[in-house]
Amino acid sequence: MSDNGVKDFVFRVRRFDPVEDKAPHYQDFKVPVGPGWTILEGLWYIKENLDSSLSWRSSCRMGVCGSCGMLVNGSATLACNTQVRDVATDVLMLAPLPNFDIIRDLVPDLAPMFDKHTHLMPHIKRDDTEEMLEPTDQYWQTPEELEQFLQFSYCIKCGCCMAACPTFASDAKFSGPMPLAQGYRYLIDSRDDAFRQRKELLGSGGVGPWRCHYAGECSKVCPKGVDPARAIQFMKRELVLDYLRLSKAAKRKPAPLLPAEKRQGRRDDIPEAPPFTVEGAS
Ligand code: FES
Repeated sequence: MSDNGVKDFVFRVRRFDPVEDKAPHYQDFKVPVGPGWTILEGLWYIKENLDSSLSWRSSCRMGVCGSCGMLVNGSATLACNTQVRDVATDVLMLAPLPNFDIIRDLVPDLAPMFDKHTHLMPHIKRDDTEEMLEPTDQYWQTPEELEQFLQFSYCIKCGCCMAACPTFASDAKFSGPMPLAQGYRYLIDSRDDAFRQRKELLGSGGVGPWRCHYAGECSKVCPKGVDPARAIQFMKRELVLDYLRLSKAAKRKPAPLLPAEKRQGRRDDIPEAPPFTVEGAS
């Protein structure tokens, strides 16, 4: 290690060019890693100094957008949220997330995951369409009702859970942990009014929670602590309760608008939004 704390690491990166290569191969890059460097910073070093053709996905650099998921030393994680020295002493193995086709190098094709996500209706669905499109007020949800799904709403759709799931690895039709956890997040949301429709979607084609073997790997790798395995087990419980006609979620009326006596108006200590800097913007 040099005086300024820089240490050389080998980044062993799985490369694949769909036009040039018949099969993926590994390539080594020597990267001088400074103190606190994330894997993403190492990748940028390679791109700017060693090989500009190296491809990966990233955007926010702060564990929010979910685009930089990759396999680091055999475990799915976010490149921007992982420091090199926390996971390697000399050699760092990088590969694209498994269980997806590879577009190029470290870029997986996540489209099938988002198709499954969309299929399970990841949004609130209820009959008062006019209110949904032109809201006049907020729906009345208690803190306890919020707690039921809050943890699962922290998902950033990075795909790490899908890459770690042994069931999804052997059964491409299985919805997988991310779509199912998000399906449960809306199934249990007191503002939603589509329990029956959601139940039907979960049962159709045998893709739903019953295919989960509860390996728990999804929750181990989740960089946001969402715990998809927990959501899936809760989802199974809710469906069994519904079969026994005991599910509260299946019987509930969707949350109403906030009653007039609960309205507090605008708080005085919150300043008005500043005027738009661009004329005509709204
Ligand atoms: S770059 Fe956005 S989560 Fe890593």
